[in-house]
Amino acid sequence: MRDFDETNITAAVLDRFTATPDPRLKQIMQSLVRHLHDFARDVELTFEEWQYAIDYLTRTGRMCTDKRQEFILLSDTLGLSMLVDAINHRMPDGATETTVLGPFYVAGPPEFPLGADIAGSLPGEPLLVDGSVSGADGRPLAGAIVDVWQADRDGYYDVQRPELETALLRARFHTGADGKFSFKSVMPSFYPIPDDGPVGDMLQATARHPNRPAHIHFMIAAEGYQTLVTHVFAADSPYLDSDAVFGVKNSLIADFTRHDSGDGRMTGPFRFLTYDFGLKPSGK
Ligand code: BEZ
Ligand code: FE
Repeated sequence: MRDFDETNITAAVLDRFTATPDPRLKQIMQSLVRHLHDFARDVELTFEEWQYAIDYLTRTGRMCTDKRQEFILLSDTLGLSMLVDAINHRMPDGATETTVLGPFYVAGPPEFPLGADIAGSLPGEPLLVDGSVSGADGRPLAGAIVDVWQADRDGYYDVQRPELETALLRARFHTGADGKFSFKSVMPSFYPIPDDGPVGDMLQATARHPNRPAHIHFMIAAEGYQTLVTHVFAADSPYLDSDAVFGVKNSLIADFTRHDSGDGRMTGPFRFLTYDFGLKPSGK
């Protein structure tokens, strides 16, 4: 067949994929072509706009290194990451909701004993965190691996501060026999996602801000359960209703309560977060 035009090219391209041996690949490629063509028709894409898009994606690829993944950031800011997360994490009652991983997780964080201070010498408002990990049925999970990471009071992760020689505000804990864990830290600040590349250009051109509300990341793993990737957001943070990556869920917002004086574990005024995590059994 020849002489393709606006009216018949989509069917022709779909037809070209009919012999794809893998049925899932065939479904994905044909749906992608259908939606791409419909998009171009919908907006009547100009040749200059198509060229801009090719250049934009090329710049996005060039921005990627082993430390910077601009394509994931683009997916995050277009809401695609949270859509894929939602499709793949339909949670039963009792299981904690998920949200984006983000670019600042470092595999194999330093291990700390329960109760440790993960802020080192970093300044900030002292924070005490008490947590528990259970199955969605409420049974406490002993020995669960709890990775935490967070920004500092100025909104920077340790990996964004080249002057730091050790990991800070990131740690691995193991829950005790009662499924509980605790640590000391400092209050995280809200912060902008990296916006010095093509994603930042898109945010600026569309009058969007780059900020995320203050949060602490958790990745929790236990034998027989799906690994949970989530955050807990501070209820008094700005940007809860306009997170640049659409990651906020009501169930993940918690009060980081203010305490005017120390208790047995803290010496002066501090903020206190307590949060109970529920894990979804594997294969369900
Ligand atoms: C984060 O929370 O660390 C994050 C998530 C998505 C994009 C950028 C940062
Ligand atoms: Fe974060």
